Amino acid sequence: MKYIIAPSILSADFGNLQRDIEMINHSEADWFHVDVMDGVFVPNISFGFPVMAAVKKHATKPLDVHLMIVEPDKYIEDFAKAGADRITVHYEACTHLHRTIQLIKASGCKAGVALNPHTPVTLLQDVIEDLDLVLIMSVNPGFGGQAFIHNTYKKIQDLKALMQGVNEELVVEVDGGVGLQNIAALVSAGANAFVAGNAIFAADNPTETISKMKSLTTTAINI
Ligand code: DX5
Ligand code: ZN
Repeated sequence: MKYIIAPSILSADFGNLQRDIEMINHSEADWFHVDVMDGVFVPNISFGFPVMAAVKKHATKPLDVHLMIVEPDKYIEDFAKAGADRITVHYEACTHLHRTIQLIKASGCKAGVALNPHTPVTLLQDVIEDLDLVLIMSVNPGFGGQAFIHNTYKKIQDLKALMQGVNEELVVEVDGGVGLQNIAALVSAGANAFVAGNAIFAADNPTETISKMKSLTTTAINI
C-alpha cells in the first residue's frame, strides 16, 4: 500500500512561496495540496489561478487541487490547464455530480469528491465506481489549523465498506487537523492520503515533520 503525504500550501508563507515549494520538492512529500476557496461555498477566500500557476512553475510533484467553490463545472477546464493532476469537488457544491465527475475526467485529470463532516459516505454509492479519490473532511472546510473531528475514523471505515468489491483502488484522503498525533490511527482506519497544513508549516522543521509523518504511515499496523 502506498501512502501519500500532501502538504497544504494554504499554510505556506506566501511571501516565500518558492522557498516553501522547494522545501516540499526536496522532502518525502508526494503531492502538493492546493486549497481553492471562493468566499461563497466556504467563509474564506484563498487564492486562484495566478498563485496556482506560480506553484505549478516550481513544483516537481503532482498538484492535488481541492475546490471549495460553488459551480465548479465553470472552472474545471481552467484548473486542468493551470496544471492540476487531481481535481476534487465538494459533494455539497454539485447539483449534477455525475456530470461534474465526467467533466474532470474529460479534462485529463483524476477525479475526486470531498465530503463535509456532516455528509454521509453512502451518498456516493452511485458514483463510487467512477471516482479516483474521496476526500473526507475532518474539519469544516475554510481554514487551516482547526481541530480534528473524531467521527472521521468511523467515516473512513464506512467508506472502506462501500468501496469493497466495487472500487478498491480508490484513494481515501483525509484533510483537516491531521498530524503526527493521529496519522497512524487514520492509517489503521483505512486512509491512505493525508493532507496537512499547520502540522507541517508551523513545525520547527517542516521537512523532518513530513519525514516523520511518512514513516508513521509505514510503521502503522493496518487493521
Ligand atoms: C481546510 C483545507 C485544508 C487545510 C488543512 O478547509 O481544505 O486543506 O489547509 O489545514 P490543517 O492541516 O492546518 O488543518
Ligand atoms: Zn484541502
